[in-house]
Amino acid sequence: MCGGAGFIGSSFVRLALAEGEDVVVLDKLTYAGRRENLADVEADPRFAFIHGAIEDRAAVAHAIDGVDAVVNFAAETHVDRSIHEPDAFVHTHALGTYVLLEAARERGIRHLQVSTDEVYGSIAQGSFTEDSPLRPSSPYSATKAGADLLVGSYHDTFGADVVICRGSNNYGPRQHPEKLIPLMVLNAMAGDHLPVYGDGLNVRNWLFVEDFAAAIAHVLRRGGAGEVYNVGGPDECSNIEVVRRILELCGGDDSLIEYVSDRPGHDRRYSLGSEKVRALGWSARVRFAEGLERTVTWYRENSWWWEPIRSGAYREYYERQYGRRLAP
Ligand code: NAD
Ligand code: TYD
Repeated sequence: MCGGAGFIGSSFVRLALAEGEDVVVLDKLTYAGRRENLADVEADPRFAFIHGAIEDRAAVAHAIDGVDAVVNFAAETHVDRSIHEPDAFVHTHALGTYVLLEAARERGIRHLQVSTDEVYGSIAQGSFTEDSPLRPSSPYSATKAGADLLVGSYHDTFGADVVICRGSNNYGPRQHPEKLIPLMVLNAMAGDHLPVYGDGLNVRNWLFVEDFAAAIAHVLRRGGAGEVYNVGGPDECSNIEVVRRILELCGGDDSLIEYVSDRPGHDRRYSLGSEKVRALGWSARVRFAEGLERTVTWYRENSWWWEPIRSGAYREYYERQYGRRLAP
């Protein structure tokens, strides 16, 4: 499991161990990757952690030895960072995915690529299917789309056993506070401003992280080689509506909301149809209202997890991104 120390990867590691699998995690431990995310499984004898990058052939050769499948979560995942510093996005998504594909092909094992709805771009009405054209608008989504195309080519050209799983916006415990929901939860709890981009009417299709992990497990076991599976959340919601709900759950005041400059190239709406993955027996279990409440409760009860982030390099990132300081 590459990128298994991140938000979604660590949720999948937990699920795989619970389902009786042995797990090897290969992770570069970027600012987003944290051993804390795996703290509860570190002692499990069926779990091993290797510190290394997916673009490092030697590290990949070591990690892949004896495994039955590769699941690639490893990525740079924040659109705003991709606008200011696209370099790592190109490196990890293009070169890293290539190195993994070669290693999996050599050994004849399955490569599951974890991808995103953002590769399709924005859709005003209706939902994207797996056959919709790719129209990414940010360096993040463009490099993810590039990786997807490379993955597809390994099936068409070499007959490699590859499969792609494209998820909509995830949320839940252990998500880095650069992303909308944890950022707003932690700021609301601290009485900090809540920076809403543009008019706040951009719409996202919210998927609880454990539901996405379950979908990936279904696709890994039952997905057809060379196929793409979209995994959409059960509810869509505008950003301003998300922020208002968080304020209600955290007991904050609407006056904390601050409309700030829009993100360049900001996609208006994402929406995925999930019929194909449902045919494999998956369905989302957690509706947005329940998942958001669980998420807020988790952040409230786990300050040990986020305090080191909010007091470290994140503060400088925040100041650069929003032109103001977080409350001390
Ligand atoms: P994350 O930023 O929380 O974690 C990414 C992980 O990858 C970190 O542990 C990081 O250390 C590791 N990593 C980064 N570059 C690496 C490299 N070169 N080699 C090895 N490890 C590396 O991300 P996430 O939100 O858990 O996303 C996981 C995957 O799911 C990504 O591929 C992302 O594109 C995709 N996805 C995310 C969402 C979402 O809403 N978060 C939605 C759909 C799909
Ligand atoms: P984000 O969590 O970055 O995910 P993505 O861009 O991959 O969808 O952002 C979700 C939405 O929230 C997106 O429309 C941008 C918006 N947003 C804000 O309004 N303010 C913020 O501070 C952040 C981080 C995001």
